[in-house]
Amino acid sequence: MAHLIAPSILAADFANLSKDIELVNNSNADWFHLDVMDGEFVPNISFGLPVIEAIKRHAKKTLDVHLMIIQPDRYISAFKKAGADVLTVHYEACPHLHRTIQAIQAEGMKAGVALNPHTPVSVLEDVIQDIDVVLIMSVNPGFGGQKFIEKTYDKIKKLKALIQSSGSSAIIEIDGGVGLGNYKQLVECGADVLVAGNSVFAAKDPLQAITELKKI
Ligand code: DX5
Ligand code: ZN
Repeated sequence: MAHLIAPSILAADFANLSKDIELVNNSNADWFHLDVMDGEFVPNISFGLPVIEAIKRHAKKTLDVHLMIIQPDRYISAFKKAGADVLTVHYEACPHLHRTIQAIQAEGMKAGVALNPHTPVSVLEDVIQDIDVVLIMSVNPGFGGQKFIEKTYDKIKKLKALIQSSGSSAIIEIDGGVGLGNYKQLVECGADVLVAGNSVFAAKDPLQAITELKKI
């Protein structure tokens, strides 16, 4: 598949969200990436259900919700109601990951599983066939604008091999420090979805930045 671009609203202007939502609506981007942080799983607090519900009313593209929260099972139906299309939980926050994935899919959403930089791809061996999206964190979760971790290229290749050997239809999403300097190599390694926060919203011309990131 051609790779998808998911601008991360964490880097948008929160006092002027409708402007940035329209920007993404009118761009070549594919998904809205929405980062939910609880100040517990990660050392930062971002935004939650009411903001996502409001974004849903204006967004014309897939809502990709990345939960950086402990015990995400408590909020699966709430995020469905708020408008999530893809709901991603962290492997490190889910002692019963298989059950969590099933609960997300039972609500009619795509189920994503995110891996922190220290978590090897091999932990997904026994559950890869049930997952729709694997999100590889290429920075430590919690903040936008961090430096890309180079080890990510290897992880993508390993994950791609695992997906192919198991006959899984999971797609690979990369999140953190993605920009014009590394996006091509990420796609060559097997990435399907690229999250881009600062490389889009801090660019002089965000529309142009998205167009560039879509080029093969
Ligand atoms: C980090 C978030 C990312 C973040 C990426 O914890 O999961 O989605 O918004 O921002 P950039 O692209 O600026 O690294
Ligand atoms: Zn994210």
